[in-house]
Amino acid sequence: MTRKKHIDIVRDEDVAREVSPVENQTDRAWQAALRPRTFDEYIGQRDLIENLRVSVQAAKQGGWALDHFLFAGPPGLGKTTLAHVIANELGVNLHVSSGPAIDHKGKLASLLTSLGPGDALFIDEIHRLNPVIEENLYPAMEDFRFDVFIGDGPHAKAMTMQLPRFTLLGATTRMGLLSAPLLDRFGFHWQLRYYELPDMKAIVQRSARLIDVPIDDDGATEIARRSRGTPRIANRLLRRVRDFAKVEGDGTIDGTIAASSLDRLAVDHAGLDALDRAYLTVICERFDGGPVGIEAVAASLSEERGTLEEVVEPFLLQVGMIARTPRGRVATAAGFSHIGLVAPTKAPTGGNSPQGRLF
Ligand code: ADE
Repeated sequence: MTRKKHIDIVRDEDVAREVSPVENQTDRAWQAALRPRTFDEYIGQRDLIENLRVSVQAAKQGGWALDHFLFAGPPGLGKTTLAHVIANELGVNLHVSSGPAIDHKGKLASLLTSLGPGDALFIDEIHRLNPVIEENLYPAMEDFRFDVFIGDGPHAKAMTMQLPRFTLLGATTRMGLLSAPLLDRFGFHWQLRYYELPDMKAIVQRSARLIDVPIDDDGATEIARRSRGTPRIANRLLRRVRDFAKVEGDGTIDGTIAASSLDRLAVDHAGLDALDRAYLTVICERFDGGPVGIEAVAASLSEERGTLEEVVEPFLLQVGMIARTPRGRVATAAGFSHIGLVAPTKAPTGGNSPQGRLF
């Protein structure tokens, strides 16, 4: 199999690291510039990284294409980053798309037929693939073939196109929405976890080093603690705190400037933002702590149900501020106390949450 140099679809964003390390970048480009590119650079998710290292090395030694992998987890934990790292480590091209972007069969055909031998295809939000398109993906994943019909009606002719062996890297924030046949065709699934504090701190320090911003231990800890175990949020907050340090201090990020900037950005000491607190407040005050259905909470907040389910709730569940019951969401004693309320005696404690370990 010919090994090609890894070509990044967001190539211009990556190049941004070299030409403009700090300024004039959109958030997306900023995140891409700070992305690790190798397993060695990757901080956290150690067990996953070790598994991937083995699979990638085996594929390289054996000269075969890596199996199809699926990564699940809330936004910002590194699913896209992992796809880039894997392709880079394999030395193959990475083709990037997403479930909603592949909105007709022609798009899937064009993606698949542009793949070279051993290439990796990353499909983000794969749970949002149209079911008809999804069915066309099965033979591609299983037998590396794609069936097309030429013409219409009784004269239509079926033609099978042989594809090179490739690796599908799928990412989803909603593993539960994936159909069983699609899930079945991945050789490996992995649920990404929120990062623990020491890893978050190391990520903040690495990013600060890359963008040449001086940061002390307390400054890195403060940003890490308020980034809800999510590297994307840490890098975003680092950029904002850097601005405060520049304008109101001498450019160095210490614990004091980090804490005061994050307070002003309405990110509290546990990393909750305004939407997280509004969500908790609605459950605690309007619905007496629950149980309450997600639709009722979404309507009260005029917010998309999906945003609450994919972004807000996973973290609040993780830190034990809410719980899910068959009758709906409930606020725990920790959830009440976080917004300055006393929990009614019926509120669950959320006692076995990993909050202490994480933060
Ligand atoms: N930047 C964003 N995520 C990262 C990670 N997991 N390791 C190192 N740097 C990162």
